[in-house]
Amino acid sequence: MEMPRRALLKVIVLGDSGVGKTSLMNQYPYVYKKFSQQYKATIGADFVTKEVQIDAKLVTLQIWDTAGQERFQSLGSAFYRGADCCVLVYDVNIQKSFEILNNWHKEFVKQADPVDPEAFPFILFGNKIDVDGGSSRVVSEKTAREWCASRGDIPYFETSAKEGYNVHEAFLCVAKMALAGE
Ligand code: GTP
Ligand code: MG
Repeated sequence: MEMPRRALLKVIVLGDSGVGKTSLMNQYPYVYKKFSQQYKATIGADFVTKEVQIDAKLVTLQIWDTAGQERFQSLGSAFYRGADCCVLVYDVNIQKSFEILNNWHKEFVKQADPVDPEAFPFILFGNKIDVDGGSSRVVSEKTAREWCASRGDIPYFETSAKEGYNVHEAFLCVAKMALAGE
């Protein structure tokens, strides 16, 4: 007998303030809104839903955008529990946003408490690759990929929420991983 399938997959997006988490979600096709130059900090957390077809299966992603600014974070472990995938985001032009990924990763594992943290589907986005045509970049793709490898082969995508570059591809990978890990 086939097991009943859960159609709703919960995805949590984490990363330092200003790296572009909200912008990436807004750029995800057919979710909502357009790219905005203006920065408005996320307060608490908010989600969007998106239906994605993977092979013959239609799944609904519930993507949670969170606040990078500490003073706006108010998420207890109940929020993290039941997550099917965790998206980590940093800004390729800001070293600190990359270094702090260790903390976000640790925080997620602590709060969500997945059965096997090593096998949990994380994914990393290196955002804002458009800035100054790439000349302000301080974290190389190689460095990012090494970090991913050291965390058990986390998939890595370089994105630009501003240009809409690679956003769809990156979230498609999120959907596939969330579904596979469910
Ligand atoms: P918090 O809500 O505080 O955690 O920040 P956030 O990660 O949601 O950042 P947000 O999406 O609000 O973006 C911060 C600023 O960066 C805004 O001014 C955006 O317009 C800008 N921004 C986001 N993504 C990109 C990008 O890919 N390229 C460029 N050039 N700017 C971006
Ligand atoms: Mg935000």
